[in-house]
Amino acid sequence: MATTTHTHHKIFRGDSLRTLLSEADLRGGVRQLADEIRDHYGEQPITIIAVLTGAVVLLADLIRLLDMPLRIGFVRASSYRGQSTSSGHLVVDVKMLPDIRNKEVLLLDDIFDTGRTLLNLLHEMDHLNPATIRSAALLRKQGQQQVAIEPDHVAFEIPNEFVVGYGLDYNDLYRNLPYLAALDPADLTLHSTQEHSA
Ligand code: IMP
Ligand code: MG
Repeated sequence: MATTTHTHHKIFRGDSLRTLLSEADLRGGVRQLADEIRDHYGEQPITIIAVLTGAVVLLADLIRLLDMPLRIGFVRASSYRGQSTSSGHLVVDVKMLPDIRNKEVLLLDDIFDTGRTLLNLLHEMDHLNPATIRSAALLRKQGQQQVAIEPDHVAFEIPNEFVVGYGLDYNDLYRNLPYLAALDPADLTLHSTQEHSA
């Protein structure tokens, strides 16, 4: 059986990463999300809309644990982040959305941080008249929320650290790391008014 440890070294680029959630932890969390979703919707057909790009790994694993008829689609949200907050305006791109009118929609994101991304997306998609719209996130950062909503499903609460892997990026890298790791703040040079792609 092949070991993959050595290949991960190439992903690191010399940055210091500390594992927060192992591959086994993540599998358990995704299984929990799938069970909750199945319990809620039963055999009803659903449409899962994943937020690009971070939620693609989660989407791929999650849908293979669900057995109801389901469709998938994508939406993109990008924000211009300031030095200390992510209050910069959020640009929502719904061009890739399938028809969600009268559909049972589940919006899926990798992480619920300030909550602005999910709040804005739920608001935009509501205009398209889905039958119902709910939300799920793999991760929720503790103490960071700036909105009055919470995702309907969350697998893990994590401390307020910048995390990468399992779809989450730093400057578009690390999405292919199979586990979740915290990036040492000393290695973070993202800031200023650089575009942050969700
Ligand atoms: P929010 O709008 O502040 O809730 O941010 C949600 C988006 O910010 C997520 O979809 C992620 O793309 C991104 N994000 C927030 N925290 C992190 C992190 O620690 N690592 C990588 N991306 C993050
Ligand atoms: Mg994202």
